[in-house]
Amino acid sequence: MYTARLFAALLLAVVCLATQEEYDNDILEEGITLTDSQYGSLWPLPQKVQMSTVVFKLSGASFQIVDAKESSSGASCSLLQNAYRRYFEYIFPSARKQGHVKKKTPASAVSELQVWITSADTECDGFPNVTSDESYQLSVDSPVSVLKASTVWGALRGRRPWCFKHTHAHTKKSINRTEISDFPRFAHRGVLLDTSRHFLPIKVILANLEAMAWNKFNVFHWHIVDDPSFPYLSRTFPQLSQQGAFHPYTHVYTPSDVKMIIEFARLRGIRVVPEFDTPGHTQSWGKGQKDLLTPCYSGASPSGSFGPVNPILNTTYEFMSMFFKEVSTVFPDAYIHLGGDEVDFNCWKSNPDIQKFMEQQGFGTDYSKLESLYIQRILDIVSSTNKHYLIWQEVFDNGVKMKADTVIHVWKGNQQQYQDEMSRVTASGYQVLLSTPWYLNRISYGQDWQATYKADPQDFNGTDAQKKLVVGGEACLWGEYVDATNLTPRLWPRASAVAERLWSDKDVRDLNDAYSRLAQHRCRMVQRGIPAEPLFSGYCAYEYKGV
Ligand SMILES: *[C@@H]1O[C@H](CO)[C@@H](O)[C@H](O)[C@H]1NC(C)=O
Ligand SMILES: *[C@@H]1O[C@H](CO)[C@@H](O)[C@H](O)[C@H]1NC(C)=O
Ligand SMILES: *[C@@H]1O[C@H](CO)[C@@H](O)[C@H](O)[C@H]1NC(C)=O
Ligand SMILES: *[C@@H]1O[C@H](CO)[C@@H](O)[C@H](O)[C@H]1NC(C)=O
Repeated sequence: MYTARLFAALLLAVVCLATQEEYDNDILEEGITLTDSQYGSLWPLPQKVQMSTVVFKLSGASFQIVDAKESSSGASCSLLQNAYRRYFEYIFPSARKQGHVKKKTPASAVSELQVWITSADTECDGFPNVTSDESYQLSVDSPVSVLKASTVWGALRGRRPWCFKHTHAHTKKSINRTEISDFPRFAHRGVLLDTSRHFLPIKVILANLEAMAWNKFNVFHWHIVDDPSFPYLSRTFPQLSQQGAFHPYTHVYTPSDVKMIIEFARLRGIRVVPEFDTPGHTQSWGKGQKDLLTPCYSGASPSGSFGPVNPILNTTYEFMSMFFKEVSTVFPDAYIHLGGDEVDFNCWKSNPDIQKFMEQQGFGTDYSKLESLYIQRILDIVSSTNKHYLIWQEVFDNGVKMKADTVIHVWKGNQQQYQDEMSRVTASGYQVLLSTPWYLNRISYGQDWQATYKADPQDFNGTDAQKKLVVGGEACLWGEYVDATNLTPRLWPRASAVAERLWSDKDVRDLNDAYSRLAQHRCRMVQRGIPAEPLFSGYCAYEYKGV
């Protein structure tokens, strides 16, 4: 029954296909003309949608969802049960009060949705990964509709955003006969949140994971520690957060917090990829781990300040081995993001021991060689835990030797520069992830979602083989000026523009059509309690009422 009701949600979801929404958007900003999308409020747009003019009735009271007889999923799949519970509350906010009474099904109504998981391995108890099959097919017909997916991951994506009518949201629904065949354009569709510049309460992280799922994002890139604070509570080195967090008890993520976040994400088909950025961006590590950072010198004596991780001490690598051994067991994803960006060489240059080491190694004054030596050892350490890694582009730029399956994360430069970088990285045979145009922490007046929407990770000079190395992209929300008070409205619906770029076909680029769908999608998020900011003048049927 859980499964049944989950997919009742699914079906109602499709109502939006049939409903020409009344979102009030008659005055639009320059360059955008008012048109209702023929796709209602679908976001991101499926790869293939076919709607007919045949309309069916749909009533929560007379509708049920069942596992298709052929389905390999059983009632024991708690991932689906859990999904049911969530969506039931979103889609039948009033049905709960009224109870689910099975009434006689009217003629020409959709009375049943059958859910058919086709793989013998449903992956119900597994974790999603970069090769997970997220495709699904949804056929809306009377009396029986069918949602078909290879694994649970596709079934989760097959949930369509449901629609609401302004005046009678929970009463009569109708739905056109519809066929959807859908799959993502890119396998890695991420959102980066930064919990070091400001601590983000768990509740905020979970709410945003939920919003990510509505937008079909599938990776939470957790930039968990950085210079300002170290909120990750390590079992092996508890002093790191004891000394390095903003507060050792109230501003940390305990092992059970981390576990809960990972499970919450899994149930939504979202991977959690943690980032432990070194050797730069590590000031907070130094507070709890003596001798980890390089002492900077002022003339002949230590200045009292510290620089990047000290790459010339054996103890550094002993520490890192133990630390990443723990990290590799705490985070189940196959990938760890190892950072490697923005290493400031000034402190290394000032330190006489480092100077001596440089001389012994024959590095001259090329400190990027020292950085490479360090990164190389970290990559080897992480490889030995059987994890793969992502790294920021500087590591590639500095010519560090990497495993062939390393993913290079491009974040720097203007459009020409990042496109050139994408060309270079893929010419070297590495997989690549784009973030440069999607630094959503940067804000400006007006509809900046449009530039976000226009950027395309495959727009660069390269062969087809090179284009195939683009695994996707990530929207980044760095935390210098962001905490729980403003994170959510800053992220949504601006990240939704990235979501559609990464999910939908590359030819889905019509700004007018996107505006119409996105405005409604944003209202849907608002109705569900996510304070997504407006695109422009207008209103939602259900305005945000605070928490
Ligand atoms: C749904 O059916 C109605 C009634 O036949 C029709 O007017 C409408 O255009 C259809 N919607 C779509 C998106 O095809
Ligand atoms: C992804 O998960 C599936 C199912 O568990 C597994 O067969 C596959 O090898 C995994 N792929 C990677 C790249 O880990
Ligand atoms: C550091 O490790 C290397 C290789 O294991 C060893 O040769 C060297 O003596 C060690 N240095 C110190 C200071 O312990
Ligand atoms: C691709 O190369 C051509 C010729 O060198 C150049 O004019 C163009 O700007 C390049 N495009 C991109 C996206 O870098």
